[in-house]
Amino acid sequence: MTPDDVRKEAASIAQALRRKIERERALGSGELLAAGVAKARREGPSARSNGAAHVRESSPSMPSPSTSATPEPVSVTTVESPAFEPPTPSADPGAFTLSPPEPHVRAPKRSANRDAVAVDDPEELPPFTDDLHPAALAGGRDQLAAVALPILASVAAEARACTKCGLCTTRTQAVPGVGSAATGIVFVGEAPGADEDLRGEPFVGRAGELLTRMIAAMDEKQLIPGVTLSRETVYIANVLKCRPPENRNPLPHEIESCSPYLVRQLEALQPRVICCLGKFAAELLLQLKGTVSSMRGKTYRWRGAKLIVTYHPAYLLRSPSAKRPVWDDLQRLAQEYLTD
Ligand code: URA
Repeated sequence: MTPDDVRKEAASIAQALRRKIERERALGSGELLAAGVAKARREGPSARSNGAAHVRESSPSMPSPSTSATPEPVSVTTVESPAFEPPTPSADPGAFTLSPPEPHVRAPKRSANRDAVAVDDPEELPPFTDDLHPAALAGGRDQLAAVALPILASVAAEARACTKCGLCTTRTQAVPGVGSAATGIVFVGEAPGADEDLRGEPFVGRAGELLTRMIAAMDEKQLIPGVTLSRETVYIANVLKCRPPENRNPLPHEIESCSPYLVRQLEALQPRVICCLGKFAAELLLQLKGTVSSMRGKTYRWRGAKLIVTYHPAYLLRSPSAKRPVWDDLQRLAQEYLTD
């Protein structure tokens, strides 16, 4: 074997090991142990020592390989950009009109971390004490946006150098966020995908194009008169700053390690309205478990911001009929933005 062969073999073992560890993380150690035990039982005594060895090998306490990951190749396909036409008024005459929002679901602050908990019975809740952050009308956010800039930059620099969870070994780069505090509208998604991992910017793949169109549709329809809405004037971020391999769901320990970056971004941005795109953002910020369908259609509070929940644009790509409820949610966002 030449030294080159040895290097190649070592690289391929490291890569196989990395894949295995990521599979195990995705499965969770309990499921993995159960699978190992079931396999050993199925295969009988002769295979048991292999099964047990496999379980030990798979133990989550195994150290992560220190090899830096080679980015997975991304196939570039030319597909038409997804359309986001607000649903036509003919089907529902109310589709373009801003109906008054329902009363807020008031969220008591938790003493430990001051984050919001939404509950269904507003009667039992204490009043909010955080003042609502200002809207961008009449220059109401100019100074705030300038102050936020260096803080966002420093959070971004920390996220790019972060090694708090295993995702730093598989990412190409971290994806901290994009936009500004100019309008006080923040969209929070789940985690970067392959396109975002390559470009270092959130929501730039197909789901991202749809989100960009949703924001453009809000602007075209002047849902917030006098406030320009674009990727530059809103802020777009994710719960996780690094791409989970194979776009699997974020794991609890990843959310726990990464969410302080999002909280610091929100503290700097002082949003007027936060729009959670999908279940992971909503569950994190509301500290609730639930489906998007059960959480949308209400207005919550997160500190000095109003918070709404809507379907993730990736879900819209698969289920275009969800565009109507999403458009309703964007109208709710606008209406809440405009009222105290
Ligand atoms: N999906 C997300 O949740 N975030 C992105 O940045 C891209 C896709």
